[in-house]
Amino acid sequence: MKILSFGSMNIDYVYQVPHMVRPGETLASLGMETFVGGKGLNQSIALAKAGLSVYHAGMVGEDGGILLDALTKNGVDTRFVAKKEGKSGHTIIQVDEDGQNSILLYGGANHALTEKEIDEVLSHFSKGDLLILQNELNLLPQLVKKGWEKGLTVVLNPSPFNEVIGQCDLRQVSVLLINEIEGKEISGREDPKEILDVLLEQYPHLKIVLTLGSLGADYADQKTRLHQDIFPVKTVDTTGAGDTFTGYFIHGLVSGVPMEETLRRCAKASSIAVSREGASPSIPYMEEVLRSLEEK
Ligand code: RIB
Repeated sequence: MKILSFGSMNIDYVYQVPHMVRPGETLASLGMETFVGGKGLNQSIALAKAGLSVYHAGMVGEDGGILLDALTKNGVDTRFVAKKEGKSGHTIIQVDEDGQNSILLYGGANHALTEKEIDEVLSHFSKGDLLILQNELNLLPQLVKKGWEKGLTVVLNPSPFNEVIGQCDLRQVSVLLINEIEGKEISGREDPKEILDVLLEQYPHLKIVLTLGSLGADYADQKTRLHQDIFPVKTVDTTGAGDTFTGYFIHGLVSGVPMEETLRRCAKASSIAVSREGASPSIPYMEEVLRSLEEK
């Protein structure tokens, strides 16, 4: 089984701020750093650091060398990354003193995908392979549909949530990873149990992960319901924590790790990620996750 992560790649410009900028305010930042990120790239690197072989497909602009380098350095196969004219995707991220973030996204090359390119990339994959998607590329509904038509197992992290998600057919998705906000938007419910009930009633085949911030995460499918608490740490930067969770969850799923243990690893890996700066650089290797779980 091959794993294809088809997703965004961003240069993250991260500013430390005393508080998030308010409308009309000019605020001096306390520091600034540049990291590689993007939900797609972060998830590919999380998968690779967890121990899987992964192909990344996506687009970079003329300034995208550091994005490609980061993937390659982490062992991700970049043969399906296309180079486009103009700028790569980038973000302006504010991180406050509690480690919470606020992200302004510029799509850049991430929005230059064509249907022809999707078909070309997918022609190298076949039934039973895994296709991992988020919502930072254009043509997400087409990616879901084309992946499903080829018999790929579609894993969707509908983040960031916007009207495009409503155009995706969740019957074509096998694994859905959502946070409370996305869960509320998709199900119309606020209570975590009700979110899962409604989604499973509508889409009985789904495996669902619902992350709940400091309250941990829930997993649900037709037969199983599990809850995982967080491992409390001092939060430095939450950017990329969800992507870390996603990568480790997929690792557990495809490697046949029992679900309780998979969720423990996800929570541990995310807690390590939030205790460090940046998105992809903060993602731990599996070895560190397992060692840290043994220590506690
Ligand atoms: O999920 C975190 C990511 O979201 C950041 O790396 C940023 O690029 C945005 O896409």
